[in-house]
Amino acid sequence: MVMPTYIFLILKNPVLFSQIGCLLTSRFTFILAAVGSAVGLGNIWRFPYIMGQNGGAIFLIVYLVLILTICFIPLFAELAVGKITKKECIGAYESINPKFKFLGFLNPLTGILISSFYFIVGGWIIDYIYLSIADTKIADYGDYFGFFTQNSVSACAFTLIFLLMCILFTARGVKKGIEFANYVLMPLFAVILVCLIIFSLNLPNAKLGLEYMFKPDFSKINAQMFLAALGQALFTLSIGMGALLTYGSYIKEDKNITKSTYTIIFSDTLFALMAGIMIFPAIFSFGLEPSSGAGLVFITIPQIFAQIPHGNIVSAAFFILLLAAAITSGISIIEVPIASMVERWKLTRGKACLILFCIISVFSIPATLSFGILSGFKILDKNIFDFLDFITSSVLMPINALFLCIIAGWFLKIRGEHFIQNKIIAKLFDIGLKYVVPIILIALLYIGLK
Ligand code: TRP
Repeated sequence: MVMPTYIFLILKNPVLFSQIGCLLTSRFTFILAAVGSAVGLGNIWRFPYIMGQNGGAIFLIVYLVLILTICFIPLFAELAVGKITKKECIGAYESINPKFKFLGFLNPLTGILISSFYFIVGGWIIDYIYLSIADTKIADYGDYFGFFTQNSVSACAFTLIFLLMCILFTARGVKKGIEFANYVLMPLFAVILVCLIIFSLNLPNAKLGLEYMFKPDFSKINAQMFLAALGQALFTLSIGMGALLTYGSYIKEDKNITKSTYTIIFSDTLFALMAGIMIFPAIFSFGLEPSSGAGLVFITIPQIFAQIPHGNIVSAAFFILLLAAAITSGISIIEVPIASMVERWKLTRGKACLILFCIISVFSIPATLSFGILSGFKILDKNIFDFLDFITSSVLMPINALFLCIIAGWFLKIRGEHFIQNKIIAKLFDIGLKYVVPIILIALLYIGLK
């Protein structure tokens, strides 16, 4: 197996990783890093389970409509604010008006909270890589997932290993390496997903899964579902936390961000749809429950591999590529607080990474334990993991996106005519940025939090 050895080599040796990346960097601009930020666990792990909890096809319709209409605008605005101000989040907001500084602070804070649960899922992937390589036979993955997540010591260890991996890559400033990972590993990941889709579609009862995904049941529409779809759309596109703003601040003047926006949306949606078409037929074929929650993908996918000849090799390749996608997203999350610490407080990158490692550990360890010894501890009726997910994607990210649109539309006066040729679309963009998107975000936040 050439591929996993090779990937292990680069993962084990970030210096080599960054050197390989150097060869590519002149041709491959920031777009790969932005797509790498968007495509990650949000597509493969979060999208199927949130869709499963929110009624299937009808959720998909709302999600796609939100992505194509509403989310395009804050995504573009975030890149544009970064590109225009050329500063990290807090500095960017402050440079527009010193009064906005505290709004800038909300972004790295949201990033720390997102990391605290995102890195737990990264830890689960490492465990599954280990299982696949050791070729461990598991009788019931539902039981295994419960057992593994309840085991405090190993779950915390895997969370911290994943956090450490992302921190080390970030500390070394391997942006070029990330471009390489996205250019080479992402297409490989797409290939493996297509193979798994073909396998999944040939399972007995696969049709039920497709119906669940594409045949809407309009009776399931409700306000919570709209908020969940918005949260997922923002999460998967990395909007509302300053990640794209920070990457946007690295953009060269001549780079066309309209095209980048389309590329991010297209590739991210493609990966999410592929994940859904792979997972739902398998869920129905194995008699699992689509609404079973955060463990859904980790219980379903291994059962697909269990049916494939030499499934453990395919499984190792799949989880290693998923790990690479998770790392490029994880890096973009922690890059936000790190950029703030380095640029504002003049810390060295290494020191900033060390401090951030400690801060995220303080949040993510209790969140990891919320599947085990802290499972009885609830906030708003949710365990710590679910609470962190909820408070970030359903509250803080929409709030950040709202302020971003207001600041970009009303204060920075970003206008469609500067980058969209078609006059009508440019006008619609202006109306969307200044009025429609802020009003919808406020309405959804109000309905969702009521
Ligand atoms: N979009 C990533 C994913 O789908 C996660 C992510 C990266 C993110 N950067 C972000 C989410 C910034 C919110 C904000 O896995």
